[in-house]
Amino acid sequence: MISMPMFNTHPAKRIAFVHHKGGTGKTTSCLNIAGWLNKLNQKVLVLDLDPQGNATTGLGVDIKSVTTSIADVIFDKANIEDAILETHSGIYLIPAALNLLEAEIELAYQSNPSVLLRHKMPTLDKQFDFILIDSPPGSGLLMINSIVAAKNIIVPLDSGVFGFETLLTLKILLQDIQQKHDTEINIVMTLLKNFSASFFDHGLTKNMKKWVEEFFSENAFENCRVCTIPFSKKIYQAQYLGLPISHYAPLARVGRAYRRIAKEILEGS
Ligand SMILES: Nc1ncnc2c1ncn2[C@@H]1O[C@H](COP(=O)(O)OP(=O)(O)O)[C@@H](O)[C@H]1O
Ligand SMILES: [Mg+2]
Repeated sequence: MISMPMFNTHPAKRIAFVHHKGGTGKTTSCLNIAGWLNKLNQKVLVLDLDPQGNATTGLGVDIKSVTTSIADVIFDKANIEDAILETHSGIYLIPAALNLLEAEIELAYQSNPSVLLRHKMPTLDKQFDFILIDSPPGSGLLMINSIVAAKNIIVPLDSGVFGFETLLTLKILLQDIQQKHDTEINIVMTLLKNFSASFFDHGLTKNMKKWVEEFFSENAFENCRVCTIPFSKKIYQAQYLGLPISHYAPLARVGRAYRRIAKEILEGS
């Protein structure tokens, strides 16, 4: 029997896409799961917390055109309603802008910096079924804010050797955030990006999925499920057009993989 992901529940289900390493698939997974949840009739908001703004451009919004960003919301410089955009795929977005670059430094001067985003959540909870937060790489205050606000996290993992090497530091980082910020973190899923079953069959181990599952459960993150995402050039094409895979190539293998994941998330919520 497949075990369903378990959620820390709020009126809206909040999930942050987290990994301290760059390029593991945080933004891609956030947008593609958002796309399928939208197609499954959920009202979805994406919060772009990465100063690189890839979730913003990935939803077809030019970062240079953004007038009200997530940084303005965090620092009470704008009304939250004014920051919400409806993108052409029907997914809502609070975008990043260049001022998010300064936010990391500005946060350090606040008295309780890790909870600023969490304080904004109740207003958003009432309006959306899902709130998906795209975290920046690194282990700075923006990343911590995303975890403290969402509590549920999805960990996209690059299935190369260097990706696996990051698991230990990630575990230490998450346990540290749990303790320091009195937050119970729930790893809903780990997504193995660019997973090729045939490579692993011929390679070092046949049991990478199982190994990751066991790694997290042995380390007090026992609800974590591991799902795999195939490599596909359609991911690049969809991103070029500012569309999630659900709206560009829903029937492609990678489109169906993200659909299964979104359905699991929906059924487990
Ligand atoms: N399943 C996939 N197949 C092919 N390329 C992918 C896939 N998932 C992600 N990518 C590519 O990998 C790169 C890193 O992904 P991204 O989502 O930007 O990572 P992160 O947000 O963790 O930095 C991007 O260029 C993206 O297009
Ligand atoms: Mg990213």
